Amino acid sequence: MTMDPLREFPRLRSVVLGVGSCLPEKCVTNDDLAKQVDTSDDWIVQRTGIKQRHIAGPDETTSTLGEGAARAALAEAGLDANDIDLVIVATSTPDWTFPSTATQIQAALGLTHGVAFDLQAVCSGFVFAVATADKFLRSGSHKRALVIGAETFSRIIDWDDRTTCVLFGDGAGAIVLEARPSTGDLSERGVLTTHLRSDGRHRAKLHVDGGPSATQTVGHLRMEGKEVFRFAVGQVTDVVTDAFAATGLTAGDLNWFVPHQANRRIIDMSAHKLGIAPEKVVATVHLHGNTSAASVPLALSVARADGRIKDGDLVMLEAVGGGFTWGSALIRW
Ligand code: ACO
Repeated sequence: MTMDPLREFPRLRSVVLGVGSCLPEKCVTNDDLAKQVDTSDDWIVQRTGIKQRHIAGPDETTSTLGEGAARAALAEAGLDANDIDLVIVATSTPDWTFPSTATQIQAALGLTHGVAFDLQAVCSGFVFAVATADKFLRSGSHKRALVIGAETFSRIIDWDDRTTCVLFGDGAGAIVLEARPSTGDLSERGVLTTHLRSDGRHRAKLHVDGGPSATQTVGHLRMEGKEVFRFAVGQVTDVVTDAFAATGLTAGDLNWFVPHQANRRIIDMSAHKLGIAPEKVVATVHLHGNTSAASVPLALSVARADGRIKDGDLVMLEAVGGGFTWGSALIRW
């Protein structure tokens, strides 16, 4: 007879055991970009807060960056790759149309058991992947997950379009989650609640103009910047207030707000709207640019490494991306 995992473990929580990141070797400053397109450090910093970004070299791909981040997260967790039975990679820039980047990383880590798959929600991908892994782990079907956000947006950027090429960068971040018994108390470590939304009517505002079925090409990123800005600030905070409503916690209870790192002005305006104090906001957009699904785990990795995020801290993740998609994950670290 098969054991019902929910009966065996009436309450499970997905606890973060480690976080890690990996960046391409090459770092490109705004001044470097100004030599290629008609832009300036002043314009980019004023409009976005971005000062530099990392760009993948010929031997660096989404899977090599994702593998590097996964190894760093496993090291912080004190685990071996073989302890993992679930690998989810959030990406919109896979190495290949198929097989998935997740299976490539699974193989590179020497993992032959468990399951690995990609998840595509553009810049919200990591938050969607955390929510998905959390549901797998709490069901009892899997024990430990590697959740990776990895991107090489430099490969889908139109480098002649100054309105988009200055905004993006490459990189990867990852966390290890483990299913642990929980009494359900909000003071215990782990993912407390997740909230995801999407609305496909907004495709034209942020999309790639190519794909295997529509054009048989990879295509380039296209964006109506002002519309994306308006949506990101106007709509997206609802998933954060949903997380507060589900738990009874408030902005005052948070230790850290770790939003998607697209634009410093979007980050600051969202925090202000939610009543989150500026000193609780983790912003790394000046270092990495917008790395899409990698941006939140990269920011987590920086804030963990510099000692800001400590065990037991209450951390709110939030992201918005093409689709539109948007989501939040509230974690007791
Ligand atoms: N350098 C110099 N000038 C530029 C550049 C550049 N890189 N890009 C545009 N300009 C010029 C424009 O041509 C325009 O000139 P004009 O007035 O002579 O016509 C002027 O700057 C103003 O352009 P706007 O598009 O009005 O600038 P805006 O203040 O809206 O800022 C930006 C543009 C930064 C893209 C902003 O709209 C934005 O941040 N939008 C959000 C988009 C975003 O973050 N997307 C990330 C992906 S989505 C996601 O992650 C959720």
